[in-house]
Amino acid sequence: MPSAIPTSQTSSTIVGGHDVARPGTNKITYSGSLEKFKYNDLTPAIGREFEGLQVADLVTADDQIIRDLAAIISQRGVVFLRDQDVTPNQMKDFMLRLTELAGCPESSGLHVHPLTEEGSELGDQISVISSEKQKKGGGLTHQLADVSRFASNGWHSDITFEPVPSDYAMLKIHTLPTTGGDTLWASGYEIYDRLSPAMQKMLEGLTATHDAKFFLDEAKNLGNPIREGKRGSPLNYGSELAAVHPVIRTNPVTGWKSVYVNKGFTKRINGVTKDESDILLSYLFNLVTQNHDAQVRFRWRKNDLAIWDNRSTWHCATYDYAQARAGDRVCSLGEAPYLDLSSTGRKEALGL
Ligand code: SIN
Repeated sequence: MPSAIPTSQTSSTIVGGHDVARPGTNKITYSGSLEKFKYNDLTPAIGREFEGLQVADLVTADDQIIRDLAAIISQRGVVFLRDQDVTPNQMKDFMLRLTELAGCPESSGLHVHPLTEEGSELGDQISVISSEKQKKGGGLTHQLADVSRFASNGWHSDITFEPVPSDYAMLKIHTLPTTGGDTLWASGYEIYDRLSPAMQKMLEGLTATHDAKFFLDEAKNLGNPIREGKRGSPLNYGSELAAVHPVIRTNPVTGWKSVYVNKGFTKRINGVTKDESDILLSYLFNLVTQNHDAQVRFRWRKNDLAIWDNRSTWHCATYDYAQARAGDRVCSLGEAPYLDLSSTGRKEALGL
């Protein structure tokens, strides 16, 4: 696997004569159009809950409002909206507007998960999150089934095994157990800021390999073939299910640096020995899982919805329930990850 760091100057990839993975715009400056809605920042590091915002209304809202929401999601990491009356098609329409107005490359659309069944009722671009499927071994639960009893093994950002991974994701939970099934998110900006300048500098020179070959086994367990065709970008196809990304990436919407390795998919830091890679990855994963002040935990109610920025957050579901839990997830694709060496951490940018 190649291990050169894609920087903001080298992030584009030419496929069929087209430049397909370059970020479309630079930073988005929040104009204040969402100030009419009450909100609550759930922790200093991450998470904002808005009152009174309905995604169904945002589908046709002014571009400025959508851009402002993109800025807030990317700054706060994850945004929560309670009691949403929105259909899966409206979720897809909104996510397309969000990613486009936030500046995704032209060739990036909505992701088709490699495990999504062909001809699925809700369409290729909706991933059904379901406790029934998980019982059969779907998703990252394979890590909990036999090998480990650590709930923290589920921390990940979505689909980082794709060459063009997700910018934003939306999840609506419509079926819930009486108690349990919370989801946690953690801030990649905050974890970057907790590294020493020397460690930041070293990690900025490294790439890592993300790999989801375990989905090949899961596809067999579930009895579905893997989706090998184009999965939302001309660069995401086939059954390799592996990609190389910079360990530190810049979020184009905020211009802030974030740590970009995750327990779910990142197997190896390249260009160092295996022992060094294991130690570095384990240290970075521990920073995510052991710092509850870099996390937010969300207790779902029926029809609540979360939208997060996968470039600068991780999330982890909680499998502590026996009753059914289900929802719909839509993931949009952003740019091929890159590091802008002139960008800064969040704390430095905000003067904290
Ligand atoms: C996900 O990992 O995207 C789903 C999280 C959840 O089920 O809470």
